[in-house]
Order: sequence, then C-alpha cells, then structure tokens
Amino acid sequence: MATVSAASGRGKSGDPASGKPRHVLITGATGGLGQALAAHYAAPGRVLSLTGRDAARLSAIADTCAARGAHVVSRALDITDAEALGGWIVARDEEDPIDLLIANAGIGGAAVVPPPGGESGELARRILAVNTIGAINTVTPALPRMIARRRGHIAIVGSISGSIGMAQSPVYCASKGAVQIYADGLRRLVRRHGLRVTCVLPGFIDTPMSRSLDMPRPWCWPAERAARRIAADIARGASRSIFPWQLRAGIGLQNYLPAALTDFILEIGARGGGWTNPEPDEDGGTD
Ligand SMILES: NC(=O)c1ccc[n+]([C@@H]2O[C@H](COP(=O)([O-])OP(=O)(O)OC[C@H]3O[C@@H](n4cnc5c(N)ncnc54)[C@H](OP(=O)(O)O)[C@@H]3O)[C@@H](O)[C@H]2O)c1
Repeated sequence: MATVSAASGRGKSGDPASGKPRHVLITGATGGLGQALAAHYAAPGRVLSLTGRDAARLSAIADTCAARGAHVVSRALDITDAEALGGWIVARDEEDPIDLLIANAGIGGAAVVPPPGGESGELARRILAVNTIGAINTVTPALPRMIARRRGHIAIVGSISGSIGMAQSPVYCASKGAVQIYADGLRRLVRRHGLRVTCVLPGFIDTPMSRSLDMPRPWCWPAERAARRIAADIARGASRSIFPWQLRAGIGLQNYLPAALTDFILEIGARGGGWTNPEPDEDGGTD
C-alpha cells in the first residue's frame, strides 16, 4: 500500500450529505474517468483511497492528487480478486471511515466488441466478471460497515448502454444493465439505514476506453466535465447521474417505441461506423 502526503486530518468526520465527503475511495483510478474523479476530489483535508491495476499510472495519479493537498493511499489491485480487494477496502475503512465509495473500474471499448458472430464464452465471462461482479466485489466489503454507522454514499458507474442492448457489444450492455439494476435495488435496500446510492449512467466520455472504438461518439464529454457532473449529482444525493441529455432522452424514448423501430434507428446510426471487430485470422490475430 502506497501512501502519499500526511495531511490526513484523521478523527474528523466526513459529511457525504453536505457534498464534502472526507474519505473517497475510487476504483479504476488509473483510467480516464477515474483519474478525472480523483483529481476532482483531491483537496486539502480529504483522504483519497485509489486503486487500479497499473502500478506506475496509479503512483502518478496519487502524486498529482497529493500535490493538490489530499492524503492519498493507493494500492494496485484487480477487482476480480474479491479477497484482496475486500481486505484492502476493509483496512481503508478501519483507518478512515469511507464516506463515498465510487465503483468505477470496468472494461469496455474495443476490448469488448466481439466479432460479427458475437462474444466467445470466455470474453463474455471476463466482461461480466469485471464490470458486474467486480462492482459488487467493491461494494460488499464496505456495505455492512456503512450500514452499522448509518452513514455513507455509494456510487456505481454503469453506462447508458446498459439501458439498451446494442449489437456492437451485447454482453457489455448486459453487464452494465445488471449494474444498474443492482444499484437501484441497493438504493432501495439501504435508504432506511441512512445510506445513499447513485447509479452513474454516462454516454460517451473521452477516455482511452471510448477512444479505442472505431465508431462515432456522439455528444462525447471530456472526462473532467463528466467528473464534475458526477460529483455534483452525488453531492445532491441523486439516485441517477445520466448524461448527456440527448442520449438520456433517446433512451427514455425507446421505452415508448416499437422494438422494430428502435432496431432500425440503431442500425441506421451504426452504418459506416465500422462498429464490429473483424473476424480473427486463423492464428487469432486480426488484419
Ligand atoms: N468512456 C466512456 O465512454 C464510458 C461510457 C460509459 C461508461 N463508462 C464506464 O466508466 C468507467 C471508467 O471507464 P473509462 O472510460 O475511464 O475507461 P478506461 O480509461 O479504460 O479506465 C478503466 C479503468 O478500470 C480499471 N480496470 C479495468 N479492469 C480492471 C480490473 N480487472 N481490476 C481493476 N481495475 C480494472 C482500469 O485499470 P488499469 O488501466 O490500471 O488496468 C482503469 O483504471 C467504466 O466502468 C466504463 O464502463 C465509460
């Protein structure tokens, strides 16, 4: 576990409801959105617990956040390793009660776009293991502790694509749809214990994940803008953080359209976008 800076302010209590959580834990802090969230929350008097897999990038973002005055503790972890992740989260919570936990890590982009025949079983299991079980692995160690102290806020990053099955990545959409339903159920479960849950459902954000896609990215937001919007929605205790409004409206509309019409609209939108990965060569590579 790496610690940067010593301005922990230990003993003070955070106030998630005030929009000023003292201890914020973020998974996927090495990625585009996670880095932007970490930088957004980095401030004097705040404790940041950051994790990702890439140790070098994690160390760099920890340094950036410490330079902004935060007390940063980081650990390189894989969120599919429930035991290691859970042990770290509990240890972090023991030392400084977590006010805001952001389950942000995930895989997407070109890594989840299957060949025209659809995902292999192996790819499907990997996507669900990281995006769905990984998010649940992040929440479950902290949940009973937050319930016991009747305080805490959990934000789970899904995707607007979890509300619509897209031909380009059916299992990715399913993994994010599951996360959304999980967050909704969790919110209703823990409300009576004084906890808040925000489900984050972004459209395109300009990060390495979306940049890897060979397709149009309509209304793509810079990561910093997305982080500001997510933090503002969390601060007001929103159940959902959905953006941009154009995709939010489109997703809402599809509930009232015949499925065949939605299929047609999505197909037109995809035309010319090169939205599927090429079939692998016999040796497993692609041209
Ligand atoms: N970008 C978009 O357009 C978009 C849209 C909707 C939703 N989202 C969601 O937003 C979240 C952040 O995505 P991003 O755009 O910032 O993507 P990104 O730049 O690719 O970052 C993904 C992050 O997740 C981490 N991660 C992936 N697999 C992991 C694993 N097994 N264990 C631990 N960490 C793991 C990565 O860590 P390492 O790099 O260190 O391995 C990285 O920090 C994801 O949940 C994504 O699905 C993104």
